[in-house]
Amino acid sequence: MKNHVRELYKCSKCNLAVEIASSCACTEPCMRCCGEKLDPVTVNTVDADHEKHVPHVERQSDSICVKIGSVEHPMTEAHHIVWIELVSGDWCLRKYMHPGEKPAVEFKLCCNKNEKVKVRAFCNIHGLWEREA
Ligand SMILES: [Fe+2]
Repeated sequence: MKNHVRELYKCSKCNLAVEIASSCACTEPCMRCCGEKLDPVTVNTVDADHEKHVPHVERQSDSICVKIGSVEHPMTEAHHIVWIELVSGDWCLRKYMHPGEKPAVEFKLCCNKNEKVKVRAFCNIHGLWEREA
């Protein structure tokens, strides 16, 4: 079975981020913003800046608690976590975040409680961060 498309692209000029839900037939990125092709967003797993972005994860029997960074990530209008999500196989749970909130969320799991998941967070400045849990 083909995996679902979960690609992110970002404009290097204006910071627009776009998530692709379905692939096209083009052989290379074809979307444009500010007159340029969008850059693919690569997944980061190691943070040299005091671990402000790598998700910190605590797994409990029926939930997964996530906070972004061992040093709390800023949540200002200019610099914040846009969303935090759990991804596994063909399901995804996503919580959109807002400036002023704590960069943390508890996902309640009603099934798939023991399944390995990817915990991902998207920073509007520093991109996509991921950890397996
Ligand atoms: Fe950031």
